[in-house]
Amino acid sequence: MNSEKSGKKRGFFITFEGPEGAGKSTQVAMLLDFLKKNNRPAVTTREPGGTALAEKIREVVKGHDGNEKMHDRTELLLMEAARSQHVQEFILPRLESGVSVICDRFSDSTIAYQGGARGLDKDDILFLNRFAAVGLVPDLTFLLDLSPEDGFARTRKRSETAGQFDRFEAEKIDFHRTVRRSFLELAEAEPERIKVIDAARDQRSVHEDIVRIINEFI
Ligand code: TMP
Repeated sequence: MNSEKSGKKRGFFITFEGPEGAGKSTQVAMLLDFLKKNNRPAVTTREPGGTALAEKIREVVKGHDGNEKMHDRTELLLMEAARSQHVQEFILPRLESGVSVICDRFSDSTIAYQGGARGLDKDDILFLNRFAAVGLVPDLTFLLDLSPEDGFARTRKRSETAGQFDRFEAEKIDFHRTVRRSFLELAEAEPERIKVIDAARDQRSVHEDIVRIINEFI
């Protein structure tokens, strides 16, 4: 976006947020397609994950260990460890070479899940988010908003096929209501960056809204 020393334009950093089952991965793929068709180099990635090491952390943090409870602070630090690796190894080099990065979840998820739903201190999370992301903040964030009930109606099918709910999907509905509320509060506080999209509609309509916003933005 801003001119670098080399004169090359930095890529856009676009993130998708929202509850389980909001259709983020579909919309991420559709946006990638749209940008490529418009001759804008772009890649997609996800959090936690996005590099070999960060994907290993993803397995640990989403998985169940029957014998040992994962403490909330441990969960937070694993999310941030994965982010630190992802940002430095994958995201920043691409942005700097002019490629846009579309990321399925980023720091707002940490505020909504570990802050809102787990109840960890928001200032601690803001500090750790900044530290792990080396100060990187998304240029634009799409919040795909959906009730937990609707989200679960979609993910249950997927999880049943996969055989198990991950640690987050297994949380009670109240946890997911708090996550949704936290996301909406974030969007209210940062309306320029975070665009709320009604994700209860069909994929095509959701994509059209996203394209409209992207066209105004780029
Ligand atoms: P998903 O990629 O399938 O949505 O799974 C990622 C899960 O991890 C999801 O339940 C949200 C959770 N999560 C956090 O709790 N904090 C975070 O910072 C991130 C990136 C994800």
